[in-house]
Amino acid sequence: MNDRPHDANRRLEVAATPTAPALVLRPWSVADVPELVEIHRDPVLRRWSVDPLTSPDDTLRWLRDQERSWADGDRFAFAVLTDGPEGAAERVAGHVVLKEVAAGKPSADVGYWTAAWARGRGVAPRALEALTGWAFDTFGDTGLARLDLLHQVDNAASCRVAEKTGYAFDRLLPPAPPAFPREGHVHTRHFPRLPRLGHLAG
Ligand SMILES: CC(C)(COP(=O)(O)OP(=O)(O)OC[C@H]1O[C@@H](n2cnc3c(N)ncnc32)[C@H](O)[C@@H]1OP(=O)(O)O)[C@@H](O)C(=O)NCCC(=O)NCCS
Repeated sequence: MNDRPHDANRRLEVAATPTAPALVLRPWSVADVPELVEIHRDPVLRRWSVDPLTSPDDTLRWLRDQERSWADGDRFAFAVLTDGPEGAAERVAGHVVLKEVAAGKPSADVGYWTAAWARGRGVAPRALEALTGWAFDTFGDTGLARLDLLHQVDNAASCRVAEKTGYAFDRLLPPAPPAFPREGHVHTRHFPRLPRLGHLAG
């Protein structure tokens, strides 16, 4: 590992582009409870979340779970922050997570959502790209070779995020009710190994 993944002060930064504001990714904090509760009132988010947060108590429990998982080193959830619309103060725009991580295990999973007010501005793909780079930089040395992204077949917006971030379609998953009543897609991105140059040496 060439990074300290357990550092709860970890920050990942995504530079602004001519058309999109900068993003900051940092671990969730208990201070985020009110914003998270508000964001999770959105029916679209609830529809696609396996485990939607429906009360302040749920939300606090979820935040404590994220803290514990950071410390255990098996799940790394980041709040995605950006400026609000029309230059308003920084606020939570989304969430990205690296999960099912274990030393020596070749694969892990990624997940994400974007707050309703921030959708359609490329927040999820830009944040996912940052998470992907960090995951391979941090865990590539200890065997992480592949990241999997799962979504239900009718979640077209999530499928677009996968495509835009270079997670290639890999296979169909059978339905697994009640959480996944329809088929799913698995998209995959592989560790970007440098090309082997030996064959060029002649
Ligand atoms: C899927 C999701 C994370 C995409 O996040 P995002 O930050 O809006 O990502 P993008 O801006 O790249 O938009 C992705 C696609 O969403 C659709 N989209 C665009 N504007 C949108 C809007 N205002 N509202 C909803 N969807 C929109 C488009 O199909 C877009 O693809 P395109 O760029 O090819 O047009 C977001 O829609 C979301 O949070 N959905 C609910 C939770 C969820 O589905 N999570 C993933 C579970 S697998």
